[in-house]
Amino acid sequence: MRSNFATQLILCEELEAIADSLPGDVDTQKCLQAARMIYPAIKRAHDFEENKVFPLLSTNMGSYYGDAQPPLASSLERLRYEHWEDESYAEELSDALAGRITDVANAETIGYMLRGFFEGLRRHIAFETEFILPLLVRRLEAEN
Ligand SMILES: [Fe+2]
Repeated sequence: MRSNFATQLILCEELEAIADSLPGDVDTQKCLQAARMIYPAIKRAHDFEENKVFPLLSTNMGSYYGDAQPPLASSLERLRYEHWEDESYAEELSDALAGRITDVANAETIGYMLRGFFEGLRRHIAFETEFILPLLVRRLEAEN
């Protein structure tokens, strides 16, 4: 999970660099590289969380977390929804980055999309790092 976070945060830095380079100083190769990376990188992280981490945290929640159970269940549901949103956003962004960034208006739109995406992804990862990861560690320690 930590390694998936690291990969996604590097991706966020690359997307931020592209956003900062718009409109005049854009590196087409970097855009194409990001366009190829963006969806698989986040999809891999989401699949791991949804297939391994969330089910583990959801098993016998009451006995592990007591009063924390209802907020955890709704948090996991919100995180799943954010995954779904980010994946569809990633596809759009990937198409936009793979196309030609031809004029200033187009560059502004892509810059806006990029910032919306990486800022949201950083917030998502910050929450999972602060809230989900410690629960996972506790859970794994309790089982060993
Ligand atoms: Fe996530």
